[in-house]
This record gives sequence, structure tokens and C-alpha cells, in this order.
Amino acid sequence: MKPELVMVGPMMPHVMEALDSDFSVHRLWEAADPAALLDKVGGEVRAIATSGHLGADAAMIDALPKLEIISCYGVGVDAIDLGHAAKRKVIVTNTPGVLNDDVANMAISLLLATSRQICLGDRYVREGKWLEKAMHLTRGLRGRKLGILGLGRIGKDIARKAEVFGLELSYNGRRKQDDVSYRFYADLVEMARDNDFLIAICPGGAATDKIVNRAVLDALGPEGIFINVARGSVVDEPALVAALQDGSLGGAGLDVFAEEPKVPEALLTMDQVVLQPHAASATVETRRAMGDLVVDNLRAHFAGKPALTPV
Ligand code: NAP
Ligand code: 8YV
Repeated sequence: MKPELVMVGPMMPHVMEALDSDFSVHRLWEAADPAALLDKVGGEVRAIATSGHLGADAAMIDALPKLEIISCYGVGVDAIDLGHAAKRKVIVTNTPGVLNDDVANMAISLLLATSRQICLGDRYVREGKWLEKAMHLTRGLRGRKLGILGLGRIGKDIARKAEVFGLELSYNGRRKQDDVSYRFYADLVEMARDNDFLIAICPGGAATDKIVNRAVLDALGPEGIFINVARGSVVDEPALVAALQDGSLGGAGLDVFAEEPKVPEALLTMDQVVLQPHAASATVETRRAMGDLVVDNLRAHFAGKPALTPV
């Protein structure tokens, strides 16, 4: 008999097909009453396939007494109640590594798009303003300073790419990394004060909730640019909007938001802001690799082998 699995939201067709072939899949998002579906089938379910966005909370874990594994489509697992999963001895897996390149590329794209005002330039041409006069000058990257909040797998990839653009690098995290030559700042405000750009690429969750606060944004300053490819929760979003509105922060490139897919309305009309719909890993290649890892983790576990990428 195939093991029973709850799928929280839809995934790419190749993932759905692979899961359907190996598991008896209960599609939670298609149920008129998801809680009633969990009540009905929960007793036999041994696995959850979910996304970094949808996660799995304590109530869902508790509705599945035979749960063994949660396989997450995404590297960030802040929407999964890890403490509760551990208490229940449920394995959690994610998709580290395979998305580094594309997420780092999105961070660099947002850096260029904000500093060189690419989207504004595009609108300038489309709206016929170029016919009237040349657009104002923008700022380059070479010789300027970038601080990275969260120098992990993706952060290091961003740093390697940023070096090619001639940026001077530093980072903030919970500890200094001995094998890294970039300057370490124990204090985020201090790093923001010394840098032109700040890229957030640390995990979300309680430990990083709103760590990019008004003091950090003020320290970055009127010429400074904040890029967020981490989680919306890491920045105080109303403070970010206010700092952009009153000019105490120069610009922002944002892939993630506090209440996705809702974006604060004030941001929609700001020329100094470039917005993305949480798309940093959203290439065909990377999403395929992430989907494969979701399936391969589940297959390994139910073949009696260790999960490939446990959290
Ligand atoms: P990772 O390798 O675990 O790196 C995380 C980094 O964050 C580490 O260097 C860690 O350094 C630092 N960090 C952890 N807790 C911190 C804290 N409380 N304060 C400051 N720094 C802290 O993870 P990754 O694979 O690079 O992914 C990072 C995050 O990016 C994910 O968790 C996810 O939220 C986000 N992400 C977003 C997208 C997107 O689509 N926008 C895509 C992929 C990932 P220390 O241990 O020294 O603190
Ligand atoms: C995904 C992400 O878009 O990996 C992550 O942490 O944020 C993204 O790659 C997301 O997990 C899918 O919901």
C-alpha cells in the first residue's frame, strides 16, 4: 500500500506526478473544508509536502498522529513549527543549495535595478519623456560598499557575484566566520552606517523578526539602498515605508513582504523602489531542482534511508 501524504498546496506538474505515483495524495487546497479532510484522513497520513510559504503549523502536525516527515519546497522553513515537529520526532527536510545561484542573481538584479534605476528608465522611455530630455544620472556600484545580513549559502554566493562588480563587502550574523575575509560587524546598525547597500538574506522567524528596524534604515541613510530577498518578517515594513516616504532611506529592492501577496500600497507608486513577487528562486531550472528534492527526500525516507537534506 502506498503511504498516505497530505499536500498543502499545488506544486509543479512533475512533482505532482511523482508524488501521485509513490503516495496516496490528499490535496488540502482542493478541499472545501481542509480541517474536515484532515479529520477524515489524518489518522493514516505519514507525510506532508508543503512550501516555504504555506508551511505546517502545530495544529496540522497534531492532526496527523502517524506523521513521520515534512518535506518543504523551499530552503526557508520559518512557516513550519520546527519545535513542535521535533517534539513529535517528525523529520523536516528543505531544499538548500539548489537555489543559491538564482536567488543570488535576483539579489544582484535588485541591486543593479535600484542603483541604476532600471525600471524608472524603462518607464522614462515608454512614456516618451526621453523625447523631451535625457534622464538624470544614476549611481554605479564599483568602489561602493555592500553589507550582507546572513552570510550563509546564498549570502556567500551573493558576495562572490558582488565582488565582480567591484563592491567592497562586509557581513552581519550571529558570529564571525573564521574562514571569511570580509569584514564582520557584530552590530547591524553599525554595518548599515558604514555601507551604501544592505542585502538581507538570513532566515525568517522569531530570532530575526524586524531586525532591520528604523534605526538600521536610518543608519543606511538617504543615499542607502535596502534589498530584501530573505523574508518580509525581517524588516519593520511600516518603518521601511515611512523611511522611503520621508527620504531618510534612498531606495529599496524587495522580493518579499510581511503579508504576501499583499504589498503596502504606498510602495506601488515609489520610483525609488523595485518590487518582485517573491520570485528569487522562480526559474524553471531551479524550481524543477527544488521539486526533485522534495520528492527525493520523501522517497529516501520511505525506502528506509536517511532523508537527503534534513533541516
Ligand atoms: P543558510 O545557509 O542557513 O544561511 C543563513 C545565514 O543567516 C547564516 O549565515 C547565519 O549566520 C545567518 N543568520 C541566522 N540567524 C541569524 C540571526 N538571528 N541574525 C543574523 N543572522 C542570522 O541559509 P540560506 O540557504 O542561505 O537561506 C537563507 C534564507 O534566505 C532562507 O532561510 C530563506 O528565508 C531566504 N530565501 C528566500 C528566497 C526567496 O525566494 N526570496 C529564496 C531562498 C531563500 P550565523 O549562523 O552566523 O548567524
Ligand atoms: C520559495 C523561498 O519561493 O526557498 C525559500 O525559502 O522563499 C523560495 O525559494 C518558497 O519557499 C516557495 O514557497
